Amino acid sequence: MKDNGNMNSEIRSDAAVPKTPAGSAVLPLDSSFTVEVTGWYRDNRRNLPWRQDKDPYHVWVSEIMLQQTRVEAVRDYYQRFMQALPTIEALAEAEEEQLLKLWQGLGYYNRVRNLQKAARQILQNPSAEEVSVDPSVTGFASAGFPRTMPEILALPGIGEYTAGAIASICFDQRTPAVDGNVLRVMARLTEEEGDVKSTPVKRSFTELLADLYPDTDCGDFTQGLIELGALVCLPNGQPRCEMCPVSGFCRARAAGRVMELPVKAEKKTRRQEQRTVFILSCGGRLAVRRRPKGSLLGNLYEFPQVSRHLTAGAAVSQAEAWGCHPLDVTRSKQYKHIFSHVEWDMIGYYINCGSEGPGETFRWVSREQLEEEIPLPSAFQPFCPE
Ligand code: ADE
Repeated sequence: MKDNGNMNSEIRSDAAVPKTPAGSAVLPLDSSFTVEVTGWYRDNRRNLPWRQDKDPYHVWVSEIMLQQTRVEAVRDYYQRFMQALPTIEALAEAEEEQLLKLWQGLGYYNRVRNLQKAARQILQNPSAEEVSVDPSVTGFASAGFPRTMPEILALPGIGEYTAGAIASICFDQRTPAVDGNVLRVMARLTEEEGDVKSTPVKRSFTELLADLYPDTDCGDFTQGLIELGALVCLPNGQPRCEMCPVSGFCRARAAGRVMELPVKAEKKTRRQEQRTVFILSCGGRLAVRRRPKGSLLGNLYEFPQVSRHLTAGAAVSQAEAWGCHPLDVTRSKQYKHIFSHVEWDMIGYYINCGSEGPGETFRWVSREQLEEEIPLPSAFQPFCPE
């Protein structure tokens, strides 16, 4: 092969460097960045139910829900939750089964248990009985809610992100809330090469942002960054840089690298488990049981299930062992359910039974009870009979 010499190879390597878009010299992140983000947020923010006021109860519950699923899915969950439990007092007094039902499908059920623990803790605060006089807080749902970062962080289930969101949105403090959206925005703005999930990278973004917070309307800056990540600086696909109010500050854009960032460490592989689920019916009622406390989905309900995939014959024997007198059996479709650390490869059998078996084995419930009262996690929903 012919060597073209240094000159030519230099030209070739230059040609491989993506072109900086015309007029996109990178600006330093300073107060003009903050002004752009907050101004853009005010003009473009989505009208979401938890943005109707700055009540910390509302912001808190919504932020915990938003850690679990998409904004569109949270709308309904949030509205149902607030209708059922409109105040911190109502949350503190709710039955566990009601809480779990309101959370059904969101996953990570300890989060709603922690909401209740924190509500009880807030109500022990001596100022909880006074109605707040801060005009930015309704005072109705949130009397006694702590206002400083250390106090908010001391509540069960509240980490840096949620505390930063509550303190900035509700109490106008200069406290960053760095979620996945903000990590992506910041990684692109700063052309960060490190793993965005790592503590040093998160910490460096938090410190950088803390210096950029405005003196007032801190919540607009927090939510502006989140909203930019959700609507403009998109994951999985081409971000909408042409609509971005801060593209002039973006190092990744200037370097033509927006699709390469953020860098994320490879996810750990999940353990695979086979499960066989039993949909046992008797006289129009279905068998459910509580899962053991402390286990995955602990204390929630399930259709009875065993590990491994059973044949129809083995499933019938199992139903007999439970004392249910199986009459006929039909196999369900196969489903996969993915948790954070484990994947269930699930098959099921619909078994009509001649008897409910010994009383203590299962709770037999009507379809209405199953729908209205029983917290049945998403993993089992595909097996609910039509
Ligand atoms: N994701 C996390 N927090 C959010 C918020 N307050 N609004 C919309 N999406 C969010």
